[in-house]
Amino acid sequence: MDFGSYAVALLGHRNPDVVAAVHRQLDVMPTSTRSLANPVMAEAAAQLAAYLGGTLPKVYFGLNGADAVEVAVKLARLASGRDRVLAVHGGYHGKSLGALALTHNPMFRTGLRGATVDVVHIDPEDPQAVAKEIARGNIAALVFEPVQGENGALPLPLDVLRTWSRDAKEHGAFVIADEIQCGLRRCGERSVALAEGLPVDAVLVGKPLGGGVVPLSAVVCSQEMYEPLSADPFLHSATFGGHPLSCAALPAALKAIEELADHGRSLGETLAAGLRSLRERHPEVMRGFTGRGLLWGIDFSAAHAAGEVVVELANAGLLVSPCLSRPTTVRLLPR
Ligand SMILES: Cc1ncc(COP(=O)(O)O)c(C=O)c1O
Repeated sequence: MDFGSYAVALLGHRNPDVVAAVHRQLDVMPTSTRSLANPVMAEAAAQLAAYLGGTLPKVYFGLNGADAVEVAVKLARLASGRDRVLAVHGGYHGKSLGALALTHNPMFRTGLRGATVDVVHIDPEDPQAVAKEIARGNIAALVFEPVQGENGALPLPLDVLRTWSRDAKEHGAFVIADEIQCGLRRCGERSVALAEGLPVDAVLVGKPLGGGVVPLSAVVCSQEMYEPLSADPFLHSATFGGHPLSCAALPAALKAIEELADHGRSLGETLAAGLRSLRERHPEVMRGFTGRGLLWGIDFSAAHAAGEVVVELANAGLLVSPCLSRPTTVRLLPR
């Protein structure tokens, strides 16, 4: 059983409808030139924007999550004419140079001096953190994960996110929810930020967006944030961004995610109850657990205990994910 594919296998492996959609596209046109419109991408973009409620009408497709983070930050900086970005302690946004600047843990920047994006990491215990940084000026964007996956499946306090988002919006900075790990019903909702009524300008999705069959990520954003790309579509491009084979998976993936939403909800409740009972029985080893929906982190008393659990579970046939920046925590990402 795979609870460990870093949130990709939300539908399990080889979902038959997604595989069939990709097969069909393979026989028709797997890649296409960036010089012409590609109807499979256009249809996928329309479906994704509608799936997230239609308030964020523009879509840019990438392959990895980091692609989406890079593009979102680039657009926010260009559209606002400002440079500085606020990200959050414990956040993870990928490892390409721009995304890496937003990722909090300095371990991932070992050997690299300086960063390509001017980022300040703020503390989720400080509701005034955004207001304080705004006073220093030049803030283009606030970027957060509503539930921090790599940081042990930690939901950020919603009241703080609300205050931060409001302060950022008042200042004209873009609010970007990175839901590459927690979105698309992994944490119950299509988008946690939108479902919680946070005034976001962009939602980033990835991982299960290609149905666990092909790589696909997306920035779903407002017209205003997308403006630089509307003015010049080649402002940001990548050879394989939005290629038909990956985009063909999207409608089938979203349909399957919706069909499994109720099942996911009850599975999440069962899992939470199981974790509560485990914690009561083994308080000396299991320090606690956090999470939401189908994304949970179990915090152990020591890193070696977490490591042993990962190995023993693998031996017993269950794959789980360690947390790179929290070695005492084991992450469960069930399908
Ligand atoms: C919240 C979040 N953002 C961005 C990324 C980066 O995605 P990728 O590894 O596909 O580049 C990840 C990957 O784990 C993630 O969890």
